[in-house]
Amino acid sequence: MKAWVIEEHGGPQGLALVDWPQPELGDNDVLVAMRAVSLNYRDLGTLRHARPGNLPPPLVPCSDGAGEVVAIGADVTRFQPGDRVMGSFFRDWIEGRFRMDYHKAAGGGSIHGVLREEWAAPEHALLPIPAGFSYEDAATLPCAGVTAWVALFKRGDLQAGDTVLTLGTGGVSIFALQLAVAAGARVIITSSSDEKLVRTRELGAWETINYLTTPDWEKEVFRLTEKQGADHVVELGGPATLGKSILSVAAGGQIALIGVLTGFDPPKESIFPLMARNARIEGIYAGARHDLAALGNFMVEHQIRPLIDRVFPFGEARTAFEHLASGRHFGKIVISKESQ
Ligand SMILES: NC(=O)c1ccc[n+]([C@@H]2O[C@H](COP(=O)([O-])OP(=O)(O)OC[C@H]3O[C@@H](n4cnc5c(N)ncnc54)[C@H](OP(=O)(O)O)[C@@H]3O)[C@@H](O)[C@H]2O)c1
Repeated sequence: MKAWVIEEHGGPQGLALVDWPQPELGDNDVLVAMRAVSLNYRDLGTLRHARPGNLPPPLVPCSDGAGEVVAIGADVTRFQPGDRVMGSFFRDWIEGRFRMDYHKAAGGGSIHGVLREEWAAPEHALLPIPAGFSYEDAATLPCAGVTAWVALFKRGDLQAGDTVLTLGTGGVSIFALQLAVAAGARVIITSSSDEKLVRTRELGAWETINYLTTPDWEKEVFRLTEKQGADHVVELGGPATLGKSILSVAAGGQIALIGVLTGFDPPKESIFPLMARNARIEGIYAGARHDLAALGNFMVEHQIRPLIDRVFPFGEARTAFEHLASGRHFGKIVISKESQ
């Protein structure tokens, strides 16, 4: 069977399509014929750099995928051949409080990922895909979707009427926009592109800010909210945005610390305005299988479909990664076995 692997760190040219050993099926495992895989910014980071805790090359990339069950181990009870399933980001985090050893089984990093024809996973790592969702839709949920869900609802306790600020128009941010709008929140979203901002309005954004033409966007957030600030900030930028996010948050509000789009350094601005506002920063790293289930239920109930920017055939994984690196996308990028 074929798999894409990171043969050499750097750019998409370091990816190679190779013959990969057929997965062995343990008694608790499910063999899945992969139909769709989605890309996350994390996958680009894994491709570009060797990271502590990640497998060395050759590493099968990508955490998020969906497919059809083709075989089951002797002790599997929840699935049967023909079922349509998706995998959870942390293989072993089913529910409850996070444990550091869950990092030892994160696909496309500490263990091999899903950008391959067949994948064997323990049944506890899988869920049926939400009703009415395509394989492509389901493949977008485990990392970006769950992260936005956990940030806003599980850790943020978002209520109708709250104000949400989310940064950029990539995978996590567009999920945050869609979920928050469905819950009756007012969403302010930023982008480097006026064209993309028009599209966010079509998805229900309340206000939009171009962060290139309005570099002091935190002041604009305060103006738009009549000096109240945002109850929830979906912080995706890292050092270049965290200081401004702190200045954008409302009294008693929450910053979901999620992203590293501009690196891992601390912000140059003071973090003490958090104290004056009695606000908090919550570190968020994806979620448990139960969060993936809750997200799926919410999306079905509210008739929300993931916003997929482009679907690339399996053979064109390098081009899909180039598209991700370009930042031209809006929402999610998917690689599909079905569109070949
Ligand atoms: N902690 C977690 O669990 C978790 C989970 C998922 C993702 N993440 C992290 O969250 C971040 C976003 O991930 P993603 O997969 O959604 O990425 P993505 O789809 O690649 O998003 C890229 C978009 O982010 C926007 N952006 C880039 N630099 C920005 C800046 N300085 N200010 C505001 N927006 C900026 C741009 O939007 P415009 O083109 O509109 O300007 C760009 O197109 C990444 O750092 C990723 O590693 C963390």
